[in-house]
Amino acid sequence: MCGVVGYIGGRNAQPVLLNCLARLEYRGYDSCGIALDGGSLRVCKDIGKIAELAKVVPQLDGLAGIGHTRWATHGAPSRINAHPHLDCSGTIAVVHNGIINNFQVLRRRLEAEGHSFISETDTEVIPHLIEKYYRGSLEEAVVAALGEIKGSYAVIVLAAGESKLVVARNGSPLIIGVGDREHFIASDVPAVLDYTNRVIYLEDGDLAVVTSGGVSVTSRGAGVERKETRILWSVEDAQKAGYEHFMLKEIHEQPKVIRDTLVNWVSVADSVVDIAAMRRNLESMLILACGTSYHAALIGKYVIEELLSIPVRVEIASEFNYYGQTLARTAAIAITQSGETADTLKTIRKLRAARCLVIAITNVVGSSASRLADHTIYTWAGPEISVAATKSFMVQLMVLYWLVMSYSRIDPGRLAELVMDLRGLPEKVQRVLGRGDVISEYASYLAQHEDVFFIGRGINFPVALEGALKLKEVSYIHAEGYAAGELKHGSFALLGSGTPVVAILARDNTYEAMLSNIKEAKARGAPVLAVAEEGDVAIRELADFIITVPVVDAIFSPVVNTVALQLLAYYTARERGCPVDTPRNLAKSVTVE
Ligand code: M6R
Repeated sequence: MCGVVGYIGGRNAQPVLLNCLARLEYRGYDSCGIALDGGSLRVCKDIGKIAELAKVVPQLDGLAGIGHTRWATHGAPSRINAHPHLDCSGTIAVVHNGIINNFQVLRRRLEAEGHSFISETDTEVIPHLIEKYYRGSLEEAVVAALGEIKGSYAVIVLAAGESKLVVARNGSPLIIGVGDREHFIASDVPAVLDYTNRVIYLEDGDLAVVTSGGVSVTSRGAGVERKETRILWSVEDAQKAGYEHFMLKEIHEQPKVIRDTLVNWVSVADSVVDIAAMRRNLESMLILACGTSYHAALIGKYVIEELLSIPVRVEIASEFNYYGQTLARTAAIAITQSGETADTLKTIRKLRAARCLVIAITNVVGSSASRLADHTIYTWAGPEISVAATKSFMVQLMVLYWLVMSYSRIDPGRLAELVMDLRGLPEKVQRVLGRGDVISEYASYLAQHEDVFFIGRGINFPVALEGALKLKEVSYIHAEGYAAGELKHGSFALLGSGTPVVAILARDNTYEAMLSNIKEAKARGAPVLAVAEEGDVAIRELADFIITVPVVDAIFSPVVNTVALQLLAYYTARERGCPVDTPRNLAKSVTVE
């Protein structure tokens, strides 16, 4: 997804902007560019990576500038479509993250008024609108221009000779890093952490005038104060720390983040939300999410229904917007790592409008989801840089488990067992991580195939979906997650020696049926890789390859099983030479519908 950065202060802006942009690479992009004000504006942009741009950019002097990484939405990746975009006079430059829904109408009108456009982007209307409304005050012109726009934006505006940046946010994240007589603006905190850990989160509707000496924020015309937050994680947390890829580092961070989430969550649980009270008043619960977060939601459904006996509906956020209004007396949980996924945010708005209680589970403090929901439960995973979600999924599970167990009225003996198991999970996950060598060996085998099925039942059906998603997104192998009982209803036609089946087992009421499904797959010639508990003797007779995981209560089996599948996906992608952390066509945070 696009990233914006800006700098104003006493340093030469060019290296600062390039460094800040490099820190946003994890968001995914196809082109990038910068503009500097050295009395007049100088722009350098192109398709490709920031390191490539850095090699060709001439030395541009200036104490203020803006930069952008673009993930194409309107118009193909190209130098012309890359940001920053300029007005006709070349004195106003804009970088933008978001979508302008009415840009065609605005563009036609501006063209009729004599403005000429060179790109296919929606963004280019912004500098032209600012030019149109400019009467000596840049901020007033920006307010007037943004007043015409329908859609979402995080914008940074640079105008020649103005010694200020004007920034605004509506629906796309934007932060201001505060330094010593200098300011850094960015879509996300990691971009500025090399320079400062003092950050101001702008809110939707905010417009800020940023100079080297200060920040003044208005919201819909009135001055507002936005407090500084100190970021507690360091730039090292957002770096690879010796791992070959962020994905591997983040997989290995899971024992720690499980511990952190449980400690933090336990300490705030009572004050955040009383699920027991929700239960008294509610007929059903709804969980909404996209992608990997949706898979966490599906696991949450099993856990909530089993331990709380509340019916739970889980919906893909992008589909929920088309359903009938059966929302009365519903409490909803929206799960979103980034807190910025457009489809999930839309569902939160819809639910709030229908007066439903909405709890957001998110990893990003100050994210849009946290602002829109009634309550926010933060996961404590730290920054997740790799596009593939791993540790963020794990902490979503932890929050769901703890949320349910905190308030369930299950038998105290059973609850005590579950709490003990929950506390033991970091060590169990560590043991799965210790099987990296074996998993990497199996991954070399999987890497030779183009189609893989993942099967599971019950609480491990969503794990099969997640295993397949992880494999396809990082290794580009076609993979399908299936409820194990469904394979025979059509997909058997595809099974054979060239289509490995990854079977995910737990010692629960699904176990015997899973063994039968594995036999069926084997009978059709498919090689079977099983993820199964230590000490499972029966599986040794059936599977061609086995990844063993420590024994846990079946309700926690998604935790250890998923870690094994994350490693499998990672090593397969590495074997195939894929760009693990930045898979093609994907973005970390999907801020368009
Ligand atoms: O930030 P979110 O949790 O709302 O993101 C939802 C999906 O885009 C995300 O989980 C995606 O599927 C993963 N990055 C895939 O690994």
